[in-house]
Amino acid sequence: MPTPPSAPVQWPAEAIWQAVSLQLPDFSVEVLPQIDSTNSELMRRAHAGRMEPVLLVAEQQTAGRGRLGRSWQTDAAASAQALTFSLGLPLRPQDWSGLSLAVGLSVASSLHADLQLKWPNDVWWHDCKLAGILIETAGLGDVRYAVIGIGINITLPQAQGLSTPPAALQALLPGVDAPAALLRIAAPLVAAVKRFETQGFAPLRAAFQARDVLLGREVQCGDGLQGLAQGVDDLGALLLSTAAGMKKITSAEVSVRPSSAPKASP
Ligand code: BTN
Repeated sequence: MPTPPSAPVQWPAEAIWQAVSLQLPDFSVEVLPQIDSTNSELMRRAHAGRMEPVLLVAEQQTAGRGRLGRSWQTDAAASAQALTFSLGLPLRPQDWSGLSLAVGLSVASSLHADLQLKWPNDVWWHDCKLAGILIETAGLGDVRYAVIGIGINITLPQAQGLSTPPAALQALLPGVDAPAALLRIAAPLVAAVKRFETQGFAPLRAAFQARDVLLGREVQCGDGLQGLAQGVDDLGALLLSTAAGMKKITSAEVSVRPSSAPKASP
């Protein structure tokens, strides 16, 4: 017997639009069954002059991209297993430093009190990676188009060769699916990004620190630097106490990994 087709996924596009359109008047929500990458699509649109605020969701990405030139793999039938979307909007912050931390903090806060953040913007649970964030910008001058791409494991991915073991949202929130996760995240994320635009990262420093998975741990940077993580500064730079003194790591292009075990809970 052929397998019956699965029911179409019901996305809460209308509810998200209602919650966001007051803050972003031209906002729209778009769901595509398949695309190479939601980030690539919004960057293509921006380069073609289309800079309107949009939340673009893909039920499946065929060429998802991660940070540091890595790929972001999702399985077939992806919408059951992963939530992949990008928020694109024009932004003019005084300083872009810390945007990725603000985004990670918003995602973690919308999902669960126990989630942690791994500088600069991964969402971790018990030293496993639940979500990744890729931020790109297009355009020059005061106002640029920011593309904030987010991938969240709803169930455990089959992907091989991951540098960090994966975590699944359903382990924290049993029964949650990709549309329900998107509904929790989308409106608070837009509000957080708009707040960042006017206030920057500094007001979020304490909240980031409370979820900072690296804090108080030995870390190793991809460029060989090692040190004890001491939190982040007002611009979101990672503070590392090293043999050569305190160093500030600002480049999101550096990979940073804990090399000591997590701190024991009190
Ligand atoms: C990382 O952890 O390296 C970042 C992963 C970001 C993945 C998301 S999925 C939606 C958006 N489209 C992409 O191609 N990448 C981001």
